[in-house]
Amino acid sequence: MILEARGIRKSFFAYKKRFSVVKDVDIYVEDGENVSIVGESGAGKTTLVHCLSFLEEYDGGQIYFKDKLIDKNSIHVLRNRMQIVFQNFSASLDPRMSIKKIIAEPLRIKGLSHSYIEEKIEQVIEIVHLPGHVLMRKKSSLSGGEMQRVAIARALISSPELVIFDEATSALDTSTQAIALNLLIDLKMKFPLSYLFITHDLTLAKFITDRIYVMYRGRIIEEAPTEELFKHPLHPYTMLLKEGIFGQMTQIREGNSKNGCEFYPFCRWATKECQEHLSPVKEVNTKHFVRCFLYN
Ligand SMILES: Nc1ncnc2c1ncn2[C@@H]1O[C@H](COP(=O)(O)OP(=O)(O)OP(=O)(O)O)[C@@H](O)[C@H]1O
Ligand SMILES: [Mg+2]
Repeated sequence: MILEARGIRKSFFAYKKRFSVVKDVDIYVEDGENVSIVGESGAGKTTLVHCLSFLEEYDGGQIYFKDKLIDKNSIHVLRNRMQIVFQNFSASLDPRMSIKKIIAEPLRIKGLSHSYIEEKIEQVIEIVHLPGHVLMRKKSSLSGGEMQRVAIARALISSPELVIFDEATSALDTSTQAIALNLLIDLKMKFPLSYLFITHDLTLAKFITDRIYVMYRGRIIEEAPTEELFKHPLHPYTMLLKEGIFGQMTQIREGNSKNGCEFYPFCRWATKECQEHLSPVKEVNTKHFVRCFLYN
């Protein structure tokens, strides 16, 4: 197991109220596995990534990397071994910095020799198919697809074991996105890598991952191997997601479900029980888990 998170919880305080954004999330990624977390905007995906990478302090739960419990005092264990390609990667960069500096940054902060760093840069830009002349340029002169490859090159330069992509390809057009995804698949043939993809796009998850978690309003509501999830989606929300019509999701009933299922107002099968209680998680098929009273 490369990564395991148990019972991760995170809430924010706003308008004099505390609201939960990540609710008791359990996830794991096996060595060499490609996993995705799929959920609509606001589901809490980025917040979860922030917790997993200790960028944000979480309220509860445990995180294990290679079976070792990681806490504030042992974050250094993760450095270089786990890399994240953030949703807003380009926006976070200094516009005056050269692409070369951007890619080399994870190594420069380690104080490695100049010649070693130069050699590593050569290697990673070749891996991601970036031409050498890009290195001296600034981010403003790069296309979205090139910037994407810069982000991947920077993530790879420290030879990580796990890379987390937070919507890293969602801003790209379909063919550029396909090129980037194929590149990531190719990389796995050359290096022992595990990927965790965070996306709102179930089709993308299908294309690239072995196993999928479906997240809805802070909670993992279903988990299954990719093929199984597409053949037998169980949770009513997953069914809608699969049909690609979740944008048209309409409220079926009034009333909230403070202690119950987050999908209650939109679910055509919901009962009073769904409003009042949260269903336990049930393994319906091998490695196929769902949190829904329809299966209990
Ligand atoms: N620092 C913060 N303070 C208050 N609320 C926050 C904070 N960060 C995130 N949130 C809220 O938490 C919820 C989840 O946000 P998050 O960015 O994790 O969603 P997401 O699933 O990544 O969405 P997207 O697909 O749009 O990137 C949102 O309602 C957001 O407004
Ligand atoms: Mg996000």
